[in-house]
Amino acid sequence: MCGIIGIVGTAPVADRLVESLKRLEYRGYDSAGIATLEKGHLSRRRAEGKLRNLDAVLREAPLEGHIGIGHTRWATHGRPSVANAHPHATTEVAVVHNGIIENFRELRDELLESGANFESETDTEVVAHLVTRELRGGRGPVDAVAAALPRLQGAFALAFLFDGEENLLIGARKGSPLAIGYGNGEMYLGSDAIALAPFTDTISYLDDGDWAVLSTASAEIRNSANARVTRAVQKTTTGSFLVEKGNFRHFMAKEMHEQPEVVAHTLAHYLDMANETVQLPELPFDFARLERVSIAACGTAYYAGLVAKYWFERFARLPVEIDVASEFRYREAPLPANGLSIVISQSGETADTLASLRYARQEGQHLLAVVNVPTSTIAREADVVLPTLAGPEIGVASTKAFTCQLATLAALAVAAGRARGALSTEEERSLVHALVEVPRLMNEALSLGGDIEHLARSFAKTQDVLYLGRGTSFPLALEGALKLKEISYIHAEGYAAGELKHGPIALIDEKMPVVVIAPHDAVFEKTMSNMQEVAARGGRIILLTDTSGAQKASLETEATLVLPDMHPLVAPLVYAIPIQLLAYHTAVVMGTDVDQPRNLAKSVTVE
Ligand code: F6R
Repeated sequence: MCGIIGIVGTAPVADRLVESLKRLEYRGYDSAGIATLEKGHLSRRRAEGKLRNLDAVLREAPLEGHIGIGHTRWATHGRPSVANAHPHATTEVAVVHNGIIENFRELRDELLESGANFESETDTEVVAHLVTRELRGGRGPVDAVAAALPRLQGAFALAFLFDGEENLLIGARKGSPLAIGYGNGEMYLGSDAIALAPFTDTISYLDDGDWAVLSTASAEIRNSANARVTRAVQKTTTGSFLVEKGNFRHFMAKEMHEQPEVVAHTLAHYLDMANETVQLPELPFDFARLERVSIAACGTAYYAGLVAKYWFERFARLPVEIDVASEFRYREAPLPANGLSIVISQSGETADTLASLRYARQEGQHLLAVVNVPTSTIAREADVVLPTLAGPEIGVASTKAFTCQLATLAALAVAAGRARGALSTEEERSLVHALVEVPRLMNEALSLGGDIEHLARSFAKTQDVLYLGRGTSFPLALEGALKLKEISYIHAEGYAAGELKHGPIALIDEKMPVVVIAPHDAVFEKTMSNMQEVAARGGRIILLTDTSGAQKASLETEATLVLPDMHPLVAPLVYAIPIQLLAYHTAVVMGTDVDQPRNLAKSVTVE
């Protein structure tokens, strides 16, 4: 899950490679680097950490050249350092790589024996040496790559630049995405359409196993059997602009505040507001005939799926099984003959989620993807795509994509309920009516920002936090804990409130804040009992509830955050906002890098 860019052109490339890397930084920011041909010879600049460090290196020592490759790294093999930064190079070839070469140890041993000198701890460097050995054995660049590729096991997208070859760039893809961009007298390689957007809107996605030979005037694509193939050329709608923070201090803040608008936009796409019904695109399956739904996703998207499980089961009487995508395909689940598989992903590139989609295809399932990036691999491979219209999400911590996923899944669950006869017209109308209220309720939730900012000051001093919830508030408890730990680095756990007494209650003391998410719904009283259990042990309670809940809760809390009363269907969408705000303000107090927290990347394209 690194970002790759390549340009074979007629004008200087260094600045343009960096501009493109800025758009790829969401894929990793452990290090960055570029290589060009200066007067025909390979030259590179690399820097540890964020792209601005590479920028500084290039200001000190600019790179010339009309052809080049660039990379932004999320470390897999080898810690973040200059030596481990891409491009990796010998005197003959430079390479950038996204993915993992699984047999790199075996290849490394073999190459060491034949005299290669390794400078890094990465898996990628074996690729440079493998190709170099072929070149030194007398093959030309294209044949050398053709000979090296079949030796590589694992997932990769690669771009190669050769010493002395000012009109040749080679790209290859197996598992990790790679696109070709067609310019005016120039050609490009990039991890995605977003990277290529400053240069061209005309692209082809390589299929798995493809590799491509690019010159300024042409692109020749071959498949894994080395046969010449053509791949569809398409126009993308990805704008060339870089998304800005506006008046906000962080992208995350901006994206949290965009939620009323983008959720309204997403709902408008799936609801017929005038008639208060759900209106989905035509689906290639009939909900009424489905036996079961299986959902797979990762992280925050998985929690959106977990909320949807409650909705599908309750409103459509449709059984759902859900897994984190990294487990789904390995447990060899028997899937029903007429089953629907749903994958959920903001980026549409998450390796485990994509693999789950492919597994479900093999198992003969209908494939539905809820995806935010419409040009992504998952969007391209699913039978039907329900886009979330959140717009580009830049902050690594997912916020608006999550609530747009929930909005989409809520509409889908209501449609399923109607198709299966589990909801009457009147019930559907009341659920749609509740959904229409969400943007207004979200605005009210955002107005809790000041209180939450105040609360965050004491949160920032703690080491551990528990989040509790029941029903659809349970996945929200998990999401609250994830959000807090990923951006503030405070340890946090989410639990089903009823599970507390089965172990985690041992952690409660007067230092531990416990965030209780409890809208006044059917399980409110049960959650209150669990809250009493915390209070009886001196726990610090932060209650997140609604007006009715606040009236009924007969307990002293450290803080009570009160939202308006709302339909239980929409509570997860609205309660998401205070838990995001709490994580955000805590991280700001702690002074962490909110938009690019340590060790993370926005798009996780390795397993
Ligand atoms: C957490 C977060 C991650 C992602 C996960 C899946 O804030 O953003 O947990 O939700 O990596 O990513 P996508 O949705 O792109 O498949």
